[in-house]
Amino acid sequence: MELSLRVMAIEWQAEGILSLRLQAAGGAPLPGYSAGAHLDLHLAPGLVRSYSLIDGYPGDAPTAYRVAVALDARTRGGSRHVHEKLRVGEWVRASLPRNHFALVEDSPFTQLVAGGIGITPLMAMADRLQALGRAWRLRWCVRSEDQLPFRDWLQRHASHIDLHIDARDGGVWAGWSGLIDGLPVGAHIYACGPAPMLVAFEQATQALASSQVHLERFGAAPPPPQAGDAVFTVRLQRSGRTVTVAPEQTVLEALQAVGMDPPSSCLQGVCGACETRVLAGVPDHRDLVLSEQERARGDTMMICCSRAKTTEIVLDL
Ligand code: FES
Repeated sequence: MELSLRVMAIEWQAEGILSLRLQAAGGAPLPGYSAGAHLDLHLAPGLVRSYSLIDGYPGDAPTAYRVAVALDARTRGGSRHVHEKLRVGEWVRASLPRNHFALVEDSPFTQLVAGGIGITPLMAMADRLQALGRAWRLRWCVRSEDQLPFRDWLQRHASHIDLHIDARDGGVWAGWSGLIDGLPVGAHIYACGPAPMLVAFEQATQALASSQVHLERFGAAPPPPQAGDAVFTVRLQRSGRTVTVAPEQTVLEALQAVGMDPPSSCLQGVCGACETRVLAGVPDHRDLVLSEQERARGDTMMICCSRAKTTEIVLDL
């Protein structure tokens, strides 16, 4: 199912950062979502991008969705389209909200860590935790005051937030080695931001159980083919077709080559848009979306990057 949403407002938030308010026709109620969820927006033919939903306590039937888009110098077209072409009043197609970055709501303490525009899913989480009366803190690193968005929100939650501004505070934040010091037993920790920040985050949280550590990536490089990648066959249960995937090809590319068009967005294994049910065979997961438990179950895979360990895999397509 797809949504048709009208761009009701485009608001400047900071240097290079716009927020969009999106509504259905007549302001009709929209599907609810949980904190950490995102939408795929079909911005133009062939241009689908994922954006986190900002507002954290929208109830079962929100009447608007809000997302933010940072202009990325290395953009493949999505953020540039939003900043330069998208206008108030236009309609965009959107996926239903999906959540691969869900909040554990009953944790005794929640530490949030954001880099730049990576704040958006964490804003939703912070609002949700606040509404539930849970203990939380946010470490937020931005490059400069000019690039600091959502100042009203920041002010509202100022007593929970440790803000680091590189240009003001003497360079990038250097406190990673103490990130988890003093975290209560059973605390959960979440991060969203650029790749180098997430590398530091993963190192800093190695002592925690993997179930306590959650991260969402953006701007990751597409997973490269690996030496030894072999040809395999994909059997499509619903359409009755069989497609061969070459070593240098992704499943998605192989399906597109025979005229199919399954949903996809980031092509980097980070958004979850191409998630497809696996009915038989063993996936070779290459994505950054599924948890260890989900990988071990093997009943779903991201077809933009993951392959098969078996010579045949059967998909629910
Ligand atoms: S298209 Fe984003 S994970 Fe596959």
